Amino acid sequence: MIVNLILLGPPGAGKGTQAQRLVERLKLPQISTGDLLRAAVRDGTDLGRQAKEYMQRGELVPDSVVVLMLKKRMQADDCRTGCILDGFPRAVTQAEILEGVFSEQARSLNHVVSIEVPEEELVRRLTGRRSCPKCGAMFHVMFSPPEKEGVCDKCDGELITRADDNEETIRNRIAVYREQTEPLKKYYEEKGLLRPIDGTGTPKDIEEKIAKVIG
Ligand code: AP5
Ligand code: MG
Ligand code: ZN
Repeated sequence: MIVNLILLGPPGAGKGTQAQRLVERLKLPQISTGDLLRAAVRDGTDLGRQAKEYMQRGELVPDSVVVLMLKKRMQADDCRTGCILDGFPRAVTQAEILEGVFSEQARSLNHVVSIEVPEEELVRRLTGRRSCPKCGAMFHVMFSPPEKEGVCDKCDGELITRADDNEETIRNRIAVYREQTEPLKKYYEEKGLLRPIDGTGTPKDIEEKIAKVIG
């Protein structure tokens, strides 16, 4: 069965955490535009140079940059049986572009899972997040600490705090979400694709809730 789904939600809602779980469960690739952009910034590519300042401020990177990356990634072989989109689309303009990509590739979008979490919880999650740049594993200093402080359980890599996980940028990312991304809920609701879920609870509970709404 081919499944294309979007994980929608504010910064810190757990899109990346749940995407990684769904990769295992559904055997589909995760496409995170945030991860693709961070890799481009790290590698110092043209697109990365264009994206860097927007990301540091917590603003959306221009569609021209993000869409190029997304299209290239979606053409890869492993996406033929579907994909889990994490962090794209983030604005109605991007949703419209995505529709074009899907129709060019003769595929369709099945579900938009909207992960709902209250704002204060988002800030707690993001200020305590630590991630492994080597293998992508995610930790939280309180909610899911690594066995050894600062070291990845999976690959022994050194854990980092993301450059945009400071309180000022976090607040701006949340404001940008409310303004530019949240209207997508209505957009997809009207198409009958929106599956809202409560994103509080353990990651395992939330995974089960997602599994239920996508059937
Ligand atoms: P992106 O990387 O997508 O960041 P984001 O949307 O701000 O979301 P996060 O990755 O911060 O949070 P998440 O929902 O994945 O949560 P996570 O699972 O990590 O984008 C970054 C930037 O790139 C943007 O600001 C923008 O500049 C640019 N960008 C990206 N896509 C773009 C696009 N399409 N267009 C334009 N610009 C774009 O969890 C967070 C923490 O909480 C972790 O520590 C985790 O361990 C913990 N946690 C997770 N679940 C739970 C739980 N159930 N209980 C307790 N703790 C939990
Ligand atoms: Mg993420
Ligand atoms: Zn690691």
